[in-house]
Amino acid sequence: MNNFTYCVPTEIIFGRGAEKETAAAVKKHGGRRVLVVFGGGSAKKSGLLDTIEKQLDAADIRFEEFGGAQPNPTLSHAREGVKRAATFGADLILAVGGGSVIDTAKAIAHGAANLDTDIWDFWLGKKKVERTLPVGVVLTIAAAGSETSDSSVLTDETTGKKRGLNIALNRPAFAIMNPELTYTIPRAQLAAGIADIFMHTLDRYMTKEMGNHLTDRIAEALMKNVVRFGKKAMTNHRDYEAMSELMWCGSVSHTDFTGLGRTKDFSVHKLAHELSGKYGVTHGESLTVMWPAWAREVYLDAPERFAQYAENVWGATVGTVEEKARAGIRETEEFWRGLGLPLSFTEIGIGELDETAIAALADSCTDDGKKTVGVFRPIDRETALAIYRRANR
Ligand code: NZQ
Ligand code: ZN
Repeated sequence: MNNFTYCVPTEIIFGRGAEKETAAAVKKHGGRRVLVVFGGGSAKKSGLLDTIEKQLDAADIRFEEFGGAQPNPTLSHAREGVKRAATFGADLILAVGGGSVIDTAKAIAHGAANLDTDIWDFWLGKKKVERTLPVGVVLTIAAAGSETSDSSVLTDETTGKKRGLNIALNRPAFAIMNPELTYTIPRAQLAAGIADIFMHTLDRYMTKEMGNHLTDRIAEALMKNVVRFGKKAMTNHRDYEAMSELMWCGSVSHTDFTGLGRTKDFSVHKLAHELSGKYGVTHGESLTVMWPAWAREVYLDAPERFAQYAENVWGATVGTVEEKARAGIRETEEFWRGLGLPLSFTEIGIGELDETAIAALADSCTDDGKKTVGVFRPIDRETALAIYRRANR
């Protein structure tokens, strides 16, 4: 087991009616002037925003609304939010929504606490975030895990570059998680969220480092749970048991808990971000397109790892190590296909790409061949080209 540091300070308030605790949590974490960040309107339509704002009023907490965060949230919108937070004098940023809203709120928190810095410099690694404002979350979708993660992902829409910032200061102060708030998620979005939850553990699981037993068993249990309750949720999205299991899996899967003691790979996420950055596709769907292409390209580098995954997650015990490894890849694809998720560029709706477009994806992912991504096999430009070509059907 490798050395690690693990600190997830987010206070989690989970279960039916949890949103009633919002004002109390805001107060506890020092919020007196709150910027309430939300997305395209689902939180308004459901009445959740109204419920929260009434509570804030009753608790004498001043607030201002900042809506409009889109899926694959943009840098320009986050910059706009920084200005709003600064003008209002916000001391806490409250995200009401999913990963896109939460990531926007995290960016606003960093920007509002560092008004002399353009936030993109943090994402580009030119500046380090030394201070931020507390972020609170009222979660409405189980997917990205941003409610507890150390990550925030933004897209510079002028260049199509989608980039993540991973720092301890990205962990929210509190997360309010009522599974009933997720009952209204559109079906395709629910499926994409299930894939994202699964992939946050699978992208950590695929490593050449064997013998990390507790972490491996936790990871396998989480993935099996996502398969079981993902299927159940897709047949009835008002099933409290299924939606609560998914919601909790979503958080645990991206806290790092399912990858402790081994190096995380995450090359599939990075390959997939290029698809969302350039074509605006849904994050979870970009992962189901890229994972099988990546897996088929690299599995022979450590087939025993893939075989262990196949055996312990999918019960594929027959055949040679390589046959089991391939069975695990097929089972994963079947699961995603069963949820109605895409497995190729055509199925995700961007069509078959020409070589110039494929090269643009590989160049962007590897900074024109200057860097590699991931560790299972460090993905260089040539390998990235080969993986994108495999998905180009
Ligand atoms: O914008 P609104 O109107 O709220 O609608 C959203 C949006 O259209 C809708 N939605 C959310 N909750 C709903 C609902 N509709 C009805 N009822 C509800 N209860 O769902 C759509 C998608 O929302 P979004 O926030 O984009 O979903 P998700 O949570 O999947 O977040 C995706 C974003 O997070 C990033 C992704 O790359 C993507 O940009 N990620 C963030 C991570 C992190 N910060 O740790 C890790 C992930 O790997 C991921 O990269
Ligand atoms: Zn993800």
